[in-house]
Amino acid sequence: MPFFPEESFQRELCTGCGVCSRVCPAMAVMRDSDGVVTGFRNSCIRCGHCGAYCPSDAFRLPPATGSGVDPEALMSLFRARRSTRIFLPDDIEPECLRRLLAPTGLAPTGTNAGGITVVAVRGVDTIGTLVAAPLRRLLKLFFPLAALAGYGGQAREFLDGEDPITRGAPCLLLFFVPRSNPTGAADGVIAAAMVTLQAEAMGLGTLWNGVLQALFPLLPGLRRHRPRGTRLRAVLCVGKKGLEPLHRIPDRDWKVLIP
Ligand SMILES: Cc1cc2nc3c(=O)[nH]c(=O)nc-3n(C[C@H](O)[C@H](O)[C@H](O)COP(=O)(O)O)c2cc1C
Repeated sequence: MPFFPEESFQRELCTGCGVCSRVCPAMAVMRDSDGVVTGFRNSCIRCGHCGAYCPSDAFRLPPATGSGVDPEALMSLFRARRSTRIFLPDDIEPECLRRLLAPTGLAPTGTNAGGITVVAVRGVDTIGTLVAAPLRRLLKLFFPLAALAGYGGQAREFLDGEDPITRGAPCLLLFFVPRSNPTGAADGVIAAAMVTLQAEAMGLGTLWNGVLQALFPLLPGLRRHRPRGTRLRAVLCVGKKGLEPLHRIPDRDWKVLIP
């Protein structure tokens, strides 16, 4: 439920300690000369920090329930996550999807803009109809060009029934973010990243799908699921893993600089 401080704030509980004002990202808390809260400016982004840290429970938010995890347990989850490209065709039930997607409701968004819609397209056949079939029709038209560009082999395999794009996944997750979100690109990716880790914790495999995201404008069957005023910011394939990795992630090219 959205948080409106002006509705939940109980003035008689306020001690004037000023914590709400110190944690507010938008300098929206107004206080009198004793420090007691008198109201909230329009700059409020309804993030709930004022209430989350209030020592006298003046905002009547339920107690915090999250607890940290052992960093090693979290690292173990990071180590376990790999892209899945061999999926079992088993459908993902709505209840399981709701659990999988729950982190989206906890994902941070710039200015707390929120508004992310995740569209879950389910079923190997449905996905084939919406993605591979129209792309094969297009590819048939442009096959000579693909061959000329050196992709003839891959194009032929795709036309012959291989699906290197959705990989037979039983579910596609499309993360749509309002165009008005000033940090929309990051918002969608953060939510999707949280979902990939939840998937790993639930024993499901995911595949980030940049190719499908790029091809989205060419796929009318998928495009009709786009909520008005939003942009597609991330695409994940998800499903039960057909194979578990047997060996660890090779070292990657990265560095940390601590000047
Ligand atoms: C933004 C993004 C887009 C990606 N798009 C694709 C894709 O379209 N097809 C694919 O097979 N893999 C895709 N990947 C997966 C990467 O190839 C993969 O993450 C990388 O090779 C590392 O392997 P890992 O995910 O198993 O750790 C994508 C990954 C990211 C982060």
